[in-house]
Amino acid sequence: MARLGKRRKWELNGDLPRVFEPTLKVEGQENYDLRGHWHGRVFENNQPITIELGCGKGLFLLELARRYSKRNFIGVDLKGHRFWTGAQQAHDEGLANVAFLRLPVEMIERVFAPGELSEFWLTFSDPQPKDFRDTKRITSPIFMARYLRTSREGGLVHIKTDSALIYRRAKQAWQDKLLEDSTDVHGELVNRVDENFRTLLEFQSPYEKRWVREGRKIYYLRFPL
Ligand SMILES: C[S@@+](CC[C@H](N)C(=O)[O-])C[C@H]1O[C@@H](n2cnc3c(N)ncnc32)[C@H](O)[C@@H]1O
Repeated sequence: MARLGKRRKWELNGDLPRVFEPTLKVEGQENYDLRGHWHGRVFENNQPITIELGCGKGLFLLELARRYSKRNFIGVDLKGHRFWTGAQQAHDEGLANVAFLRLPVEMIERVFAPGELSEFWLTFSDPQPKDFRDTKRITSPIFMARYLRTSREGGLVHIKTDSALIYRRAKQAWQDKLLEDSTDVHGELVNRVDENFRTLLEFQSPYEKRWVREGRKIYYLRFPL
């Protein structure tokens, strides 16, 4: 198939029933209609919801969804044309436990009610090295506080990154609660986790493939909110 442009992908997203594109005004205080209703109205079950924040093409999200049919998965990204790839693939595969959401992560509380989410993946987030006030880096404590306000008690956060900055800052902020900590996912972590988790960690998104090819180390942290 010929490569599709951004515009065409935006149009095609409009035909996919599991792509949601709230038009919340940045200044406004209104909430999204589905806030508090994702289980009942979207997934029609009460299975826990895992969210990937900054999901890009959404291929890792699909990998999660194929493995864990008893959970629901939502991929969030600012850029709808990026996740069109995953959304179309999920549709073609008939994956009923997947949805995509075009949203700045900053607005997460206006789209999810307290307790609605159970697990948070942040994969290869932009490190934002000049974000000295921590207001743009989506792995910062300011963002974690937002996630906490949408989370079930003890909701788990997974951070997988090539960025030493993201790793260092998150580790510093959550050091008392860390459940897992690795500075070399493919070199050592994969050798000490169970088979299921090993093969999940070995799945590489297009970004990760690039960083691994360049010889960068991949970091991983897990902690409860
Ligand atoms: C480096 S890419 C990683 C994509 C994907 N996680 C992967 O591993 O292939 C970062 C993604 O985060 C998205 N992003 C960055 N800041 C965001 C924000 N504030 N809200 C939503 N998405 C954001 C970008 O649009 C981009 O797709």
